[in-house]
Amino acid sequence: MKYNFDELIDRRNTRSYKWDQGEKLFGAADVLPLWVADMDFHCPPAVRDVLIQRAQLGVYGYAIHTDSYYDSIVKWYSRRHDWEISPGWITDSPSIVTSLSLAVELFSEPGSQVVLQSPVYYPFYDVIRTNGRVVAKNPLVIRDGRFEMDYDQLETLFQGGAKLLLLCSPHNPGGRVWEREELLRLGALCLQYGVTVVSDEIHADLTFPGHKHIPFASLSPELADRTITCLAATKTFNLPGLHTSFIVASNPAVKRKLEQRLKSLSLHMANHFAQDAVQAAYNEGEEWLDEMMAYVKGNLDFAIAYLKEQLPQVKPLVPGGTYLLWLDCRDLGLDVKGLKELMFVKAKVAFSEGSVFGTEGEGWLRINLACPRSIVEEGLKRFCQAVSGQPV
Ligand SMILES: Cc1ncc(COP(=O)(O)O)c(C=O)c1O
Repeated sequence: MKYNFDELIDRRNTRSYKWDQGEKLFGAADVLPLWVADMDFHCPPAVRDVLIQRAQLGVYGYAIHTDSYYDSIVKWYSRRHDWEISPGWITDSPSIVTSLSLAVELFSEPGSQVVLQSPVYYPFYDVIRTNGRVVAKNPLVIRDGRFEMDYDQLETLFQGGAKLLLLCSPHNPGGRVWEREELLRLGALCLQYGVTVVSDEIHADLTFPGHKHIPFASLSPELADRTITCLAATKTFNLPGLHTSFIVASNPAVKRKLEQRLKSLSLHMANHFAQDAVQAAYNEGEEWLDEMMAYVKGNLDFAIAYLKEQLPQVKPLVPGGTYLLWLDCRDLGLDVKGLKELMFVKAKVAFSEGSVFGTEGEGWLRINLACPRSIVEEGLKRFCQAVSGQPV
Protein backbone atom coordinates (compact mmCIF):
# COMPACT_ATOMS: atom_id res chain seq x y z
CA MET A 1 0.00 0.00 0.00
CA LYS A 2 1.28 3.44 -0.96
CA TYR A 3 -1.09 5.29 1.39
CA ASN A 4 -1.37 4.82 5.14
CA PHE A 5 -5.04 4.59 6.07
CA ASP A 6 -4.14 3.34 9.57
CA GLU A 7 -2.87 6.80 10.51
CA LEU A 8 -4.88 8.44 13.29
CA ILE A 9 -5.60 12.04 12.36
CA ASP A 10 -6.71 14.27 15.22
CA ARG A 11 -9.74 16.06 13.84
CA ARG A 12 -10.92 17.51 17.13
CA ASN A 13 -10.98 21.31 17.28
CA THR A 14 -10.91 21.61 13.48
CA ARG A 15 -14.56 22.75 13.23
CA SER A 16 -15.42 19.20 12.27
CA TYR A 17 -19.13 18.43 11.98
CA LYS A 18 -18.38 14.88 13.04
CA TRP A 19 -15.72 15.30 15.75
CA ASP A 20 -16.57 18.64 17.36
CA GLN A 21 -20.22 18.15 18.24
CA GLY A 22 -20.02 15.30 20.76
CA GLU A 23 -21.11 17.42 23.70
CA LYS A 24 -23.87 19.19 21.79
CA LEU A 25 -25.38 16.17 20.05
CA PHE A 26 -24.61 13.23 22.32
CA GLY A 27 -24.02 14.82 25.70
CA ALA A 28 -20.28 14.04 25.99
CA ALA A 29 -17.19 15.21 24.12
CA ASP A 30 -15.56 11.77 24.31
CA VAL A 31 -18.23 9.96 22.31
CA LEU A 32 -16.43 8.22 19.42
CA PRO A 33 -18.07 9.43 16.18
CA LEU A 34 -18.76 6.91 13.40
CA TRP A 35 -21.85 8.59 12.02
CA VAL A 36 -21.75 11.45 9.48
CA ALA A 37 -20.48 10.25 6.11
CA ASP A 38 -17.05 11.78 5.73
CA MET A 39 -13.75 9.93 6.09
CA ASP A 40 -11.07 10.13 8.76
CA PHE A 41 -8.44 9.81 6.02
CA HIS A 42 -6.28 12.39 4.27
CA CYS A 43 -7.56 13.12 0.78
CA PRO A 44 -5.34 12.25 -2.23
CA PRO A 45 -2.01 14.17 -2.01
CA ALA A 46 -2.56 15.73 -5.45
CA VAL A 47 -5.67 17.45 -4.10
CA ARG A 48 -3.86 18.82 -1.08
CA ASP A 49 -0.98 20.06 -3.24
CA VAL A 50 -3.23 21.93 -5.64
CA LEU A 51 -5.18 23.52 -2.78
CA ILE A 52 -1.97 24.67 -1.09
CA GLN A 53 -0.83 26.18 -4.37
CA ARG A 54 -4.15 28.00 -4.76
CA ALA A 55 -4.06 29.20 -1.14
CA GLN A 56 -0.57 30.61 -1.69
CA LEU A 57 -1.93 32.86 -4.43
CA GLY A 58 -3.35 35.07 -1.70
CA VAL A 59 -5.96 36.49 -4.09
CA TYR A 60 -9.26 34.67 -3.95
CA GLY A 61 -11.27 36.47 -6.60
CA TYR A 62 -14.25 35.36 -8.63
CA ALA A 63 -13.39 32.29 -10.64
CA ILE A 64 -14.54 30.75 -13.92
CA HIS A 65 -15.16 27.15 -14.90
CA THR A 66 -12.54 25.89 -17.33
CA ASP A 67 -12.66 23.27 -20.09
CA SER A 68 -10.03 21.21 -18.27
CA TYR A 69 -12.43 20.87 -15.31
CA TYR A 70 -15.24 19.51 -17.48
CA ASP A 71 -12.74 17.32 -19.31
CA SER A 72 -11.64 15.67 -16.05
CA ILE A 73 -15.26 14.80 -15.24
CA VAL A 74 -16.03 13.46 -18.73
CA LYS A 75 -12.92 11.29 -18.79
CA TRP A 76 -13.56 9.94 -15.28
CA TYR A 77 -17.06 8.74 -16.14
CA SER A 78 -15.88 7.25 -19.41
CA ARG A 79 -12.94 5.46 -17.78
CA ARG A 80 -14.55 4.31 -14.53
CA HIS A 81 -18.20 3.89 -15.50
CA ASP A 82 -18.28 3.35 -19.29
CA TRP A 83 -20.60 6.35 -19.52
CA GLU A 84 -20.01 8.90 -22.28
CA ILE A 85 -21.08 12.33 -21.05
CA SER A 86 -20.90 15.44 -23.18
CA PRO A 87 -19.39 18.45 -21.36
CA GLY A 88 -22.48 20.37 -22.46
CA TRP A 89 -24.68 18.19 -20.21
CA ILE A 90 -22.92 19.28 -17.01
CA THR A 91 -24.12 22.03 -14.67
CA ASP A 92 -22.33 22.89 -11.44
CA SER A 93 -24.32 22.98 -8.21
CA PRO A 94 -23.07 23.70 -4.67
CA SER A 95 -24.19 20.33 -3.31
CA ILE A 96 -26.14 17.23 -4.16
CA VAL A 97 -28.87 18.14 -1.70
CA THR A 98 -29.19 21.55 -3.39
CA SER A 99 -29.68 19.73 -6.71
CA LEU A 100 -32.25 17.33 -5.23
CA SER A 101 -34.22 20.22 -3.80
CA LEU A 102 -34.15 22.19 -7.06
CA ALA A 103 -35.23 19.11 -9.00
CA VAL A 104 -38.22 18.62 -6.71
CA GLU A 105 -39.14 22.30 -7.04
CA LEU A 106 -38.80 22.37 -10.81
CA PHE A 107 -40.02 18.94 -11.89
CA SER A 108 -43.02 18.25 -9.66
CA GLU A 109 -46.19 20.14 -8.87
CA PRO A 110 -46.86 21.72 -5.45
CA GLY A 111 -48.76 19.22 -3.30
CA SER A 112 -47.92 16.28 -5.56
CA GLN A 113 -46.44 12.94 -4.54
CA VAL A 114 -42.71 12.39 -4.89
CA VAL A 115 -41.44 8.83 -4.53
CA LEU A 116 -38.47 7.71 -2.46
CA GLN A 117 -37.32 4.23 -1.53
CA SER A 118 -37.10 3.97 2.24
CA PRO A 119 -35.11 3.67 4.39
CA VAL A 120 -33.03 6.32 2.69
CA TYR A 121 -30.64 9.23 3.27
CA TYR A 122 -32.76 11.59 5.39
CA PRO A 123 -32.51 14.80 3.28
CA PHE A 124 -34.58 12.98 0.64
CA TYR A 125 -37.56 13.47 2.96
CA ASP A 126 -36.60 17.07 3.72
CA VAL A 127 -36.34 18.22 0.10
CA ILE A 128 -39.79 16.80 -0.64
CA ARG A 129 -41.47 18.25 2.43
CA THR A 130 -39.79 21.65 2.51
CA ASN A 131 -40.84 22.18 -1.10
CA GLY A 132 -44.47 21.50 -0.16
CA ARG A 133 -44.68 18.07 -1.80
CA VAL A 134 -45.80 14.78 -0.29
CA VAL A 135 -43.48 11.85 0.46
CA ALA A 136 -44.71 8.72 -1.34
CA LYS A 137 -42.83 5.77 0.14
CA ASN A 138 -41.80 2.78 -1.89
CA PRO A 139 -40.21 0.78 0.95
CA LEU A 140 -37.37 -1.54 0.02
CA VAL A 141 -37.76 -5.17 0.95
CA ILE A 142 -35.06 -7.40 2.40
CA ARG A 143 -34.62 -10.58 0.39
CA ASP A 144 -31.67 -12.96 0.69
CA GLY A 145 -29.86 -10.56 3.00
CA ARG A 146 -30.06 -7.50 0.79
CA PHE A 147 -32.45 -4.71 -0.11
CA GLU A 148 -34.56 -5.13 -3.23
CA MET A 149 -37.12 -2.87 -4.88
CA ASP A 150 -40.85 -3.54 -4.60
CA TYR A 151 -41.91 -2.92 -8.22
CA ASP A 152 -45.61 -3.76 -7.65
CA GLN A 153 -46.01 -1.17 -4.89
CA LEU A 154 -44.04 1.31 -7.00
CA GLU A 155 -46.40 0.78 -9.94
CA THR A 156 -49.34 1.46 -7.65
CA LEU A 157 -47.75 4.81 -6.70
CA PHE A 158 -47.20 5.66 -10.36
CA GLN A 159 -50.78 4.65 -11.18
CA GLY A 160 -51.84 7.00 -8.38
CA GLY A 161 -50.18 9.89 -10.22
CA ALA A 162 -46.66 10.22 -8.80
CA LYS A 163 -44.46 11.70 -11.54
CA LEU A 164 -41.10 12.15 -9.81
CA LEU A 165 -38.81 9.54 -8.25
CA LEU A 166 -35.73 10.20 -6.10
CA LEU A 167 -33.41 7.26 -6.66
CA CYS A 168 -30.44 6.60 -4.37
CA SER A 169 -27.90 4.65 -6.41
CA PRO A 170 -25.81 3.13 -4.86
CA HIS A 171 -28.11 3.09 -1.89
CA ASN A 172 -27.48 4.81 1.43
CA PRO A 173 -27.87 3.30 4.05
CA GLY A 174 -28.28 -0.19 2.55
CA GLY A 175 -25.10 -0.23 0.43
CA ARG A 176 -26.90 -1.80 -2.52
CA VAL A 177 -25.21 -1.28 -5.88
CA TRP A 178 -28.27 -1.74 -8.07
CA GLU A 179 -27.80 -4.21 -10.90
CA ARG A 180 -28.54 -3.47 -14.52
CA GLU A 181 -31.64 -5.72 -14.58
CA GLU A 182 -33.07 -4.02 -11.50
CA LEU A 183 -32.53 -0.54 -12.94
CA LEU A 184 -33.94 -1.59 -16.32
CA ARG A 185 -37.10 -2.87 -14.65
CA LEU A 186 -37.38 0.39 -12.71
CA GLY A 187 -36.71 2.34 -15.90
CA ALA A 188 -39.41 0.47 -17.82
CA LEU A 189 -41.99 1.55 -15.23
CA CYS A 190 -40.76 5.16 -15.37
CA LEU A 191 -41.11 5.19 -19.15
CA GLN A 192 -44.54 3.58 -19.01
CA TYR A 193 -45.89 6.15 -16.55
CA GLY A 194 -43.94 9.20 -17.71
CA VAL A 195 -41.96 9.53 -14.48
CA THR A 196 -38.91 11.79 -14.16
CA VAL A 197 -35.98 10.30 -12.24
CA VAL A 198 -33.60 12.24 -10.03
CA SER A 199 -30.70 9.85 -9.56
CA ASP A 200 -28.40 10.63 -6.65
CA GLU A 201 -25.21 8.79 -7.56
CA ILE A 202 -22.83 10.39 -5.09
CA HIS A 203 -21.67 6.91 -3.97
CA ALA A 204 -21.01 5.76 -7.58
CA ASP A 205 -17.26 5.37 -7.15
CA LEU A 206 -17.44 3.49 -3.86
CA THR A 207 -18.02 -0.10 -4.93
CA PHE A 208 -16.46 -3.37 -3.80
CA PRO A 209 -15.09 -6.07 -6.11
CA GLY A 210 -17.86 -7.95 -7.90
CA HIS A 211 -20.19 -4.93 -7.94
CA LYS A 212 -20.40 -2.40 -10.76
CA HIS A 213 -22.26 0.87 -10.58
CA ILE A 214 -24.54 1.47 -13.57
CA PRO A 215 -25.41 5.14 -14.14
CA PHE A 216 -29.19 5.22 -14.53
CA ALA A 217 -28.97 7.64 -17.45
CA SER A 218 -26.60 5.29 -19.28
CA LEU A 219 -29.30 2.62 -19.64
CA SER A 220 -30.89 4.14 -22.77
CA PRO A 221 -31.31 7.51 -24.50
CA GLU A 222 -35.03 7.42 -23.61
CA LEU A 223 -34.22 7.14 -19.92
CA ALA A 224 -31.39 9.68 -20.13
CA ASP A 225 -33.96 12.08 -21.54
CA ARG A 226 -35.98 11.98 -18.31
CA THR A 227 -33.13 11.64 -15.82
CA ILE A 228 -31.36 14.26 -13.72
CA THR A 229 -28.16 12.72 -12.37
CA CYS A 230 -26.64 14.30 -9.28
CA LEU A 231 -22.91 13.65 -8.98
CA ALA A 232 -19.90 14.82 -6.98
CA ALA A 233 -16.27 14.03 -6.33
CA THR A 234 -16.73 14.96 -2.69
CA LYS A 235 -17.81 11.58 -1.29
CA THR A 236 -15.30 9.66 -3.39
CA PHE A 237 -12.24 11.68 -2.38
CA ASN A 238 -13.29 13.01 1.03
CA LEU A 239 -13.87 16.64 0.05
CA PRO A 240 -17.43 17.27 1.30
CA GLY A 241 -16.47 20.44 3.15
CA LEU A 242 -15.55 22.01 -0.20
CA HIS A 243 -19.25 21.89 -0.98
CA THR A 244 -19.21 21.26 -4.70
CA SER A 245 -21.14 18.97 -7.03
CA PHE A 246 -22.58 18.81 -10.52
CA ILE A 247 -25.69 17.73 -12.35
CA VAL A 248 -25.73 15.76 -15.61
CA ALA A 249 -28.80 16.23 -17.80
CA SER A 250 -28.69 15.34 -21.50
CA ASN A 251 -32.15 16.81 -22.11
CA PRO A 252 -31.48 20.47 -23.06
CA ALA A 253 -34.84 21.72 -21.75
CA VAL A 254 -34.24 20.05 -18.39
CA LYS A 255 -30.71 21.44 -18.19
CA ARG A 256 -31.86 24.95 -19.10
CA LYS A 257 -34.49 24.94 -16.37
CA LEU A 258 -31.96 23.86 -13.75
CA GLU A 259 -29.42 26.42 -14.92
CA GLN A 260 -31.94 29.25 -14.82
CA ARG A 261 -33.01 28.41 -11.30
CA LEU A 262 -29.41 28.09 -10.09
CA LYS A 263 -28.74 31.48 -11.61
CA SER A 264 -31.81 33.06 -10.05
CA LEU A 265 -30.44 31.99 -6.67
CA SER A 266 -26.92 33.08 -7.66
CA LEU A 267 -25.59 29.59 -7.07
CA HIS A 268 -23.97 29.29 -10.49
CA MET A 269 -20.60 30.90 -9.80
CA ALA A 270 -17.47 28.78 -9.49
CA ASN A 271 -15.96 28.21 -6.05
CA HIS A 272 -12.40 29.48 -6.07
CA PHE A 273 -10.95 26.27 -4.58
CA ALA A 274 -13.35 23.50 -5.51
CA GLN A 275 -12.60 23.07 -9.21
CA ASP A 276 -8.87 22.64 -8.70
CA ALA A 277 -9.57 19.99 -6.08
CA VAL A 278 -12.10 18.10 -8.20
CA GLN A 279 -9.91 18.21 -11.28
CA ALA A 280 -6.84 16.95 -9.37
CA ALA A 281 -8.90 14.21 -7.74
CA TYR A 282 -10.30 12.92 -11.03
CA ASN A 283 -7.01 13.21 -12.91
CA GLU A 284 -4.63 11.99 -10.22
CA GLY A 285 -6.66 10.32 -7.47
CA GLU A 286 -7.42 6.94 -9.00
CA GLU A 287 -4.75 4.95 -7.24
CA TRP A 288 -5.67 6.52 -3.90
CA LEU A 289 -9.34 5.61 -4.45
CA ASP A 290 -8.60 1.98 -5.25
CA GLU A 291 -6.38 1.63 -2.18
CA MET A 292 -8.88 3.43 0.02
CA MET A 293 -11.69 1.10 -1.05
CA ALA A 294 -9.48 -1.96 -0.50
CA TYR A 295 -8.80 -0.67 3.02
CA VAL A 296 -12.50 -0.04 3.67
CA LYS A 297 -13.27 -3.57 2.42
CA GLY A 298 -10.81 -4.79 5.06
CA ASN A 299 -12.72 -2.76 7.67
CA LEU A 300 -15.98 -4.25 6.45
CA ASP A 301 -14.71 -7.82 6.69
CA PHE A 302 -13.27 -7.04 10.11
CA ALA A 303 -16.55 -5.56 11.39
CA ILE A 304 -18.66 -8.44 10.10
CA ALA A 305 -16.33 -11.05 11.64
CA TYR A 306 -16.15 -9.11 14.92
CA LEU A 307 -19.92 -8.86 15.27
CA LYS A 308 -20.43 -12.49 14.30
CA GLU A 309 -18.16 -13.54 17.10
CA GLN A 310 -18.98 -10.97 19.80
CA LEU A 311 -22.59 -10.00 19.14
CA PRO A 312 -24.32 -12.49 16.81
CA GLN A 313 -27.80 -11.10 17.56
CA VAL A 314 -26.79 -7.96 15.60
CA LYS A 315 -26.87 -8.76 11.89
CA PRO A 316 -25.25 -6.67 9.15
CA LEU A 317 -26.64 -6.29 5.63
CA VAL A 318 -23.53 -6.96 3.59
CA PRO A 319 -23.07 -3.93 1.27
CA GLY A 320 -21.89 -4.04 -2.34
CA GLY A 321 -20.64 -0.48 -2.06
CA THR A 322 -20.43 2.73 0.00
CA TYR A 323 -18.39 2.85 3.19
CA LEU A 324 -21.49 2.40 5.32
CA LEU A 325 -22.66 -0.69 7.18
CA TRP A 326 -26.37 -1.09 7.98
CA LEU A 327 -26.89 -3.17 11.10
CA ASP A 328 -30.04 -4.94 12.17
CA CYS A 329 -30.17 -4.51 15.96
CA ARG A 330 -33.84 -5.38 16.38
CA ASP A 331 -33.03 -8.53 18.36
CA LEU A 332 -31.59 -6.32 21.10
CA GLY A 333 -35.23 -5.47 21.85
CA LEU A 334 -34.64 -1.73 22.26
CA ASP A 335 -36.77 1.14 21.01
CA VAL A 336 -35.25 4.27 19.41
CA LYS A 337 -34.67 5.91 22.80
CA GLY A 338 -33.13 2.74 24.21
CA LEU A 339 -30.74 2.35 21.27
CA LYS A 340 -29.62 5.97 21.56
CA GLU A 341 -28.99 5.56 25.27
CA LEU A 342 -27.06 2.37 24.67
CA MET A 343 -24.84 4.09 22.09
CA PHE A 344 -24.35 7.61 23.35
CA VAL A 345 -24.50 7.14 27.12
CA LYS A 346 -23.41 3.57 27.84
CA ALA A 347 -21.08 2.75 24.92
CA LYS A 348 -19.90 6.32 24.23
CA VAL A 349 -20.00 5.66 20.52
CA ALA A 350 -22.08 7.48 17.90
CA PHE A 351 -23.27 5.35 15.01
CA SER A 352 -26.22 6.79 13.06
CA GLU A 353 -29.51 5.81 14.65
CA GLY A 354 -31.65 4.11 11.99
CA SER A 355 -35.03 5.81 12.36
CA VAL A 356 -33.64 9.03 10.84
CA PHE A 357 -33.68 7.15 7.51
CA GLY A 358 -37.42 6.45 7.90
CA THR A 359 -39.61 4.32 10.13
CA GLU A 360 -38.22 1.19 8.40
CA GLY A 361 -34.91 2.04 10.04
CA GLU A 362 -36.20 1.68 13.60
CA GLY A 363 -34.02 -0.82 15.44
CA TRP A 364 -31.16 -0.39 12.93
CA LEU A 365 -27.85 1.45 13.15
CA ARG A 366 -25.46 2.68 10.46
CA ILE A 367 -21.71 2.55 10.94
CA ASN A 368 -19.27 4.68 8.94
CA LEU A 369 -16.29 2.44 8.11
CA ALA A 370 -14.12 5.10 6.42
CA CYS A 371 -11.73 5.44 9.33
CA PRO A 372 -8.63 3.68 10.65
CA ARG A 373 -9.33 0.07 11.63
CA SER A 374 -8.40 0.83 15.22
CA ILE A 375 -11.35 3.25 15.41
CA VAL A 376 -13.74 0.67 13.93
CA GLU A 377 -12.47 -1.83 16.49
CA GLU A 378 -12.77 0.61 19.39
CA GLY A 379 -16.32 1.57 18.35
CA LEU A 380 -17.45 -2.04 18.07
CA LYS A 381 -15.72 -3.00 21.31
CA ARG A 382 -17.46 -0.20 23.22
CA PHE A 383 -20.81 -1.16 21.71
CA CYS A 384 -20.46 -4.87 22.49
CA GLN A 385 -19.34 -4.14 26.05
CA ALA A 386 -22.30 -1.85 26.62
CA VAL A 387 -24.72 -4.49 25.29
CA SER A 388 -23.31 -7.04 27.70
CA GLY A 389 -23.61 -4.56 30.58
CA GLN A 390 -19.85 -4.07 31.13
CA PRO A 391 -18.53 -0.58 31.86
CA VAL A 392 -16.82 1.05 28.86
C1 LIG B 1 -26.97 9.65 -0.88
C2 LIG B 1 -26.34 10.94 -0.48
N1 LIG B 1 -26.65 12.06 -1.17
C3 LIG B 1 -26.09 13.25 -0.86
C4 LIG B 1 -25.19 13.38 0.18
C5 LIG B 1 -24.64 14.72 0.53
O1 LIG B 1 -24.18 15.39 -0.57
P1 LIG B 1 -23.90 16.96 -0.52
O2 LIG B 1 -23.06 17.21 0.69
O3 LIG B 1 -23.22 17.26 -1.80
O4 LIG B 1 -25.25 17.61 -0.40
C6 LIG B 1 -24.84 12.24 0.92
C7 LIG B 1 -23.91 12.34 2.04
O5 LIG B 1 -23.80 11.48 2.88
C8 LIG B 1 -25.43 10.99 0.57
O6 LIG B 1 -25.14 9.88 1.24
